[in-house]
Amino acid sequence: MAKILMINGSLNANGFNQQLLNKIKELIGNRAEVSLLDWTTVPFFIQTQEFPAPDAVAAVRQTVQAADAIWFVTPEYNYQIPGGLKNLTDWLSRSLDPANSRGESAIHGKITTVSAASSDGGSHVRPLLEDLLAFIRTQVIKENATGVAIKPANWATGVLEFSDDDIHKLNQQVETLLAKLA
Ligand SMILES: Cc1cc2nc3c(=O)[nH]c(=O)nc-3n(C[C@H](O)[C@H](O)[C@H](O)COP(=O)(O)O)c2cc1C
Repeated sequence: MAKILMINGSLNANGFNQQLLNKIKELIGNRAEVSLLDWTTVPFFIQTQEFPAPDAVAAVRQTVQAADAIWFVTPEYNYQIPGGLKNLTDWLSRSLDPANSRGESAIHGKITTVSAASSDGGSHVRPLLEDLLAFIRTQVIKENATGVAIKPANWATGVLEFSDDDIHKLNQQVETLLAKLA
């Protein structure tokens, strides 16, 4: 069974993106093995500390390598990719071979896709993250990438509400990814 690794660009364990992630997991059901990457202890990237990689970096790289596909969910910060997530992708983008800076990274060639829960649905962050994922040599599926807007009432309750259209789009994104993995 295909392994889908979810990466949440927000470290809020009860946040809107975690709720989006939970919904995606529910929609995938038992059609794939879905897990969540714990990247909470990944340090800031320092080029002089790449080899040997810090333990937390080695651990996330190993988890990423074991996945068939990676599904990112992310908030949008100031129209950009959140700093923590960008830092994680910088670590994941780097060659594993100290003798070859252009060698394969842990994320090289992986199938990736992006969704976002953000005030406006992440219309800026989704294409930025997709471009970054293409640049670091992943196979980005852009079709049906879903943005879920946080409705004004959701801020008071902390609960992300999904419209019928949100669920329709998420289902399409799930089907597109599963078809690619089949
Ligand atoms: C520093 C900062 C900048 C933000 N900038 C944007 C933005 O540019 N566009 C947007 O839609 N939402 C923006 N927001 C709101 C976030 O989308 C919202 O806080 C986030 O989706 C919450 O996700 P979470 O609960 O998963 O952490 C911003 C929030 C913060 C904290």
